[in-house]
Amino acid sequence: MDKKIALLKEKNLQALKGGGDKRIEAQHKKGKLTARERLHLLLDEGSFEEIGKFVTHRSHDFGMENEVYPGDGVVTGYGTINGRLTYVYSQDFTVFGGSLSETHAEKIVKIMELAMQNGAPVIGLNDSGGARIQEGVVSLGGYADIFYRNVQASGVVPQISAIMGPCAGGAVYSPAITDFILMVEHTSYMFVTGPNVVKTVTHENVTSEELGGAHTHASKSGVTHFSCANEVECIEHIKKMLSYMPQNCEDEAPVYAYEPANEVRSKLNDIIPENPNQPYDIKEVIEEVVDAESFLEVHKEFAENIVVGFARLGGRSIGIVANQPAYLAGVLDINSSRKGARFARFCDAFNIPLLVIVDVPGFLPGTDQEWHGIIINGAKLLYALSEATVPKITVITRKAYGGAYDVMNSKHIGADLNYAWPSAEIAVMGAKGAAEIIFKKDIADAADHEAKLKEKETEYLEKFANPYGAAARGFIDEVIEPSETRAKLIKGFKMLENKVAKMPKRKHGNIPL
Ligand code: HXC
Repeated sequence: MDKKIALLKEKNLQALKGGGDKRIEAQHKKGKLTARERLHLLLDEGSFEEIGKFVTHRSHDFGMENEVYPGDGVVTGYGTINGRLTYVYSQDFTVFGGSLSETHAEKIVKIMELAMQNGAPVIGLNDSGGARIQEGVVSLGGYADIFYRNVQASGVVPQISAIMGPCAGGAVYSPAITDFILMVEHTSYMFVTGPNVVKTVTHENVTSEELGGAHTHASKSGVTHFSCANEVECIEHIKKMLSYMPQNCEDEAPVYAYEPANEVRSKLNDIIPENPNQPYDIKEVIEEVVDAESFLEVHKEFAENIVVGFARLGGRSIGIVANQPAYLAGVLDINSSRKGARFARFCDAFNIPLLVIVDVPGFLPGTDQEWHGIIINGAKLLYALSEATVPKITVITRKAYGGAYDVMNSKHIGADLNYAWPSAEIAVMGAKGAAEIIFKKDIADAADHEAKLKEKETEYLEKFANPYGAAARGFIDEVIEPSETRAKLIKGFKMLENKVAKMPKRKHGNIPL
């Protein structure tokens, strides 16, 4: 037995070495950690249990039979993060560049199936050159097997992808199906095809960083939700995100200790500027309303005219979707609609109540928006907030104009509680535009056009630039002092805790994609 145990120990040691010391050194030189070092940082000390450590590839082409590494380029298994069960895979760039072979795929599929069966999140740490070129179609099949599980797991367990190296080809599509993507600045890239292929096909000269670096995907494409300064920060972010989420779609998010106290926040009474066209930062409102330091902004650098993120209110997780008047006046455009919709759908899938904060002048007009589909994309947010069955509360701080009033979690699309501040303006459009249309003739006939326009604008403002018309019809449940907002929300979400929503019988809805 001793000999056999010694052999096992030797094999275990060999597996820990991945592609060997030289390649590990090269990985470190690039400022990257190894697959196992990353797992060590991610999981609670001593909690990792590996599955499939001795799996090897089955390829015999191109001399592959002479290059065999236990684990085949991916470390898979389970462990705990802050005491909660989590399934993980971590690709090992030191073995064939983390490329995906048939067996590498089988290992990932195995832990994904366990995660679905046992109801716990899957975290993928991706560092892969894509399909294992020596294997051909079995590698492509392996990718498809993973994509299929990603789709099966979607909405069942949270799926989070960290991109920690150059992820090309198939290596980007599995993350794209998962719920959240994090990238590391300067060491991670995501692209379908790299700069060389781009140059050949489109004659564009572009660096990897420009084409698919963290900053590009955080701000331009919106593919990544977080751009992290380094791998350690990236892993810390994953842990923090998980703290807002339940383990699966039938579970509730963890509840944090909360001592009821005086919840009046007087500072909120001083945020809205006197001039309704002056911007202010909606994040100041969010920070005042939610539990101290609990706001975790998602998609921070993308479509900044809408702010989304997790927070806690009275110790309980909520998801926030809020217009941002400090950026493009908080207008809804294609990207902000997509961003808001995607986040709201995640929260709804995982029982995280939604708080929608409204200050929106409408949808962004113009050919660029129309030609790129503001209609279909704006409809995504409308659809997502309408279909959400989690507790939904709205606070209108200032403007709620036109279609955007309807879209931003109005009573009409199923919000449970709708509050407005006294500064709210709920109208079909801004007063000037409205006056120009409905009093066109009076203005044209007047001796002083400007004075007439001003007079009619004021008339419209006085009639509609307030929340009381909507409150009179019950579209607003209560007009509240801003300082009362936090207290109202804590009580409101508590009241809605046991909400049961009945949905029409169907296979699935057809969100306008
Ligand atoms: C097999 C691979 C590999 C791959 C890298 N390696 N990619 N082996 N299959 N796809 C190996 C290299 O041979 C090398 O082996 C080691 O990994 C490190 O690679 P380097 O090129 O030295 O590293 P680096 O300079 O950092 O460049 C990394 C890289 C580059 C950008 C990922 O290797 C690259 O462009 N690889 C190919 C990317 C690609 O085209 N993949 C296929 C996509 S098609 P040694 O022995 O020297 O350590 C695809 C289809 C799926 O994925 C579609 C599904 C929808």
